[in-house]
Amino acid sequence: MVRKSLRVGLRYLHCRNLKKEPNIRLDIVEFHNLFTLRESIDMVVTEFGVADLAGRTVRERAQALIEIAHPEDRMALVEQAKENKILYEDQIFLVEVADLYPAEVAEKQTFKNGLEARFRAIKPSDEEEMRRLFYRFSDEAVYYRFFSSIKTMPHKKMQEYVNVDYRKAMSIVGLVGETGQGHIIAEARFIKDNQRPPFADVAFIVDEEYSGHGIATYLYNMLVRLAKDKGIHGFTADVLSSNKAMMKVFEKGGDPIKAELDYGSYSLTISFYRETL
Ligand SMILES: CC(C)(COP(=O)(O)OP(=O)(O)OC[C@H]1O[C@@H](n2cnc3c(N)ncnc32)[C@H](O)[C@@H]1OP(=O)(O)O)[C@@H](O)C(=O)NCCC(=O)NCCS
Repeated sequence: MVRKSLRVGLRYLHCRNLKKEPNIRLDIVEFHNLFTLRESIDMVVTEFGVADLAGRTVRERAQALIEIAHPEDRMALVEQAKENKILYEDQIFLVEVADLYPAEVAEKQTFKNGLEARFRAIKPSDEEEMRRLFYRFSDEAVYYRFFSSIKTMPHKKMQEYVNVDYRKAMSIVGLVGETGQGHIIAEARFIKDNQRPPFADVAFIVDEEYSGHGIATYLYNMLVRLAKDKGIHGFTADVLSSNKAMMKVFEKGGDPIKAELDYGSYSLTISFYRETL
């Protein structure tokens, strides 16, 4: 299935058959009559979500299908895909959080100038799209986000970024375009701050082509809601003092902000509940 899925339609599939064997398999060579070019598919739906396959590389399709396999089958599929050189040998797979993907986090919003965007939690199969987004950024945007002038984003680094442990972090991507053919144009995340337990560190990035539409503002409000649900009391963030747009997004949130300026960078503490600041 991984190798032969091409664009045509949608397929509903139980992730396991009646014998509890995985229906998602590495290869369908043994089922040569199952899919012909005409019958092949661009989207697969199981009890665990939707895999968008159209226009994606073999590696991306493998990842997307593994994400909607039964959680107990995913590790074996990852290993088989590695052996068959479909996934990188060093591909990470967070087995203990395989079934924690927050599929319920899914929203749509229309922004200024009629721009429509969808939002959902990040998935390992977003790696290539996130890399494409990274390479569209200006040097300034990269510096504002990562506080260093990173020039390349290799697989090793990006796979760590997209494999999120949803017990202690949340990462939301914003997409534009048709479902199944969308492009990631924004990403925002918080990670529980081990130094300050009820707080989480927050960061944003929005494709410059889409800046000024209110996307970061929307993501901020979304993250605040999700953080509160996880018992987080506020956000911490490091922001360069010249980053007026980011500061404005935080200010518009309306929560009290404590800012400490150190060598041109603000160390911010934003409290959702006044007493914790
Ligand atoms: C900062 C960033 C996330 C903002 O994203 P965005 O989607 O453009 O933000 P929004 O459109 O929601 O809001 C930006 C606000 O800043 C304002 N703004 C933009 N540039 C400004 C400037 N130079 N001075 C003052 N305000 C400015 C906008 O007018 C807007 O406010 P408004 O909605 O009241 O008009 C985006 O520019 C980005 O990705 N920057 C690079 C990475 C980065 O800085 N990350 C932050 C690290 S935590």
